[in-house]
Amino acid sequence: MKGLILSGGKGTRLRPLTYTSAKQLVPVANKPVLFYGIEAMAEAGIREVGIVVGDTAPEIQAAAGDGSRWGLRVTYIPQDAPRGLAHAVLISEGFLGDEPFVMYLGDNLLNKGIGPFVRQFEAEHPAAQILLARVPDPQMFGVAELQDGRVVRLVEKPREPKSDYALVGVYMFSPEIFTSVRRIRPSWRSELEITDAIQDLIDRGLEVRPHVVDGWWKDMGKLEDLLEANRLILDTLQRRVEGEVDEESRIEGKVVIERGAVIERSVIRGPVIIGAGARITQAYIGPFTSIMGDVKVRDAEIEHSIVLEGSEICGLASRVEDSLIGKNVRIHRMPVKPSAYRFMLGDNSEVGIRW
Ligand code: TTP
Repeated sequence: MKGLILSGGKGTRLRPLTYTSAKQLVPVANKPVLFYGIEAMAEAGIREVGIVVGDTAPEIQAAAGDGSRWGLRVTYIPQDAPRGLAHAVLISEGFLGDEPFVMYLGDNLLNKGIGPFVRQFEAEHPAAQILLARVPDPQMFGVAELQDGRVVRLVEKPREPKSDYALVGVYMFSPEIFTSVRRIRPSWRSELEITDAIQDLIDRGLEVRPHVVDGWWKDMGKLEDLLEANRLILDTLQRRVEGEVDEESRIEGKVVIERGAVIERSVIRGPVIIGAGARITQAYIGPFTSIMGDVKVRDAEIEHSIVLEGSEICGLASRVEDSLIGKNVRIHRMPVKPSAYRFMLGDNSEVGIRW
């Protein structure tokens, strides 16, 4: 069985970060989201993985390499433009051949992996199997209608949902899917939709099975999702303090401090992860915060946030919360008058200031 991970796309909802970086490489608990998907494949026993890549191909390739780190082989499949999930399947036919495969959206996170999902497919051999999760707001998702243990209809964002089973970004397909992705037409948003392709399987009388997800799943569409995923993963950390911590600092709860990080006169209240080369001085790092390598925090407080490599946060009067701070960003107090806000922000940045 082969694996297909979709790591192209536009990532418009995570701008401005995605202007300069792939959304699948945004770290959750200091590890790129994509790596959780690759690990899930490796754990399920998959040894051949295709990664569909778009404009951010060089960065994705540099990060994931040939896959040997996870004991599997990665093949990169370029997609000329984000023409839809079913289009990604279509262009991967050469790689996938006539084997069944598991498809995983590279910006999704599942805490219990895909092992049971893959095993059910192998036992039952339907034409396709889809992963579902019960959600309180099904009208925001692709929704599956079930009958006698089969999927009978898929509806994208229904106004009146017939069930609360939303489609999660993991699918299993037999090679029948290639016939369906060829039969469908682009949707109103000019994409070849995977839901249309699966509906085509159903319409051709083929069996599509549901598998309800065990545990949580998260799709990294927006900032809130990313912070929530970060929270969920940080909560599973085991305490490990390998960096330098001076005597005036206090480390409380589930905290990971990587070797090479320095903590001085600070309070770190977990769950928190602090990467190698970070320096935290006279600061407070509060629950559910991920600080990547080479970040400097001095005379500042941060909670429930993610700070990427090389950034500096110094001398702030208020606490930073619920924030995602990109690479090499500087937030600091200006010693000169007039005391005004002074910004240099990229397109689509967002700043929230206390009234
Ligand atoms: P989406 O989140 O649906 O799309 P997106 O990444 O373009 O984001 P946004 O809606 O914010 O603009 O994509 C789900 C995953 O599939 C994501 O990892 C990107 C990937 N993808 C492809 O590889 N090719 C495609 O044609 C599309 C549409 C998505």
